[in-house]
Amino acid sequence: MLICNCNPFNEDDVKAFLKDKKGLPVTLSEVYRECSGGAAIRCGIACIPRLTDIIEEHNRAIEVNNGTVAKILDVKTLEAV
Ligand code: FES
Repeated sequence: MLICNCNPFNEDDVKAFLKDKKGLPVTLSEVYRECSGGAAIRCGIACIPRLTDIIEEHNRAIEVNNGTVAKILDVKTLEAV
């Protein structure tokens, strides 16, 4: 399933990256940069909501396992950190 239309990458690319992280929390900007080949986010319309869901699920699983809290968005600016 295509995640980003502007800098095309799909859900398999995201899952492969998360698998490589081996249980480490990730940020949205980190995942986007890696999966887009270093491109900047353009519109974010299609990809940000889906990436946020996937990353929250990934980081929540880590929290459950080790009790840490992973932050993916700056609460004040709502920008990826
Ligand atoms: S759909 Fe991802 S930046 Fe536009």
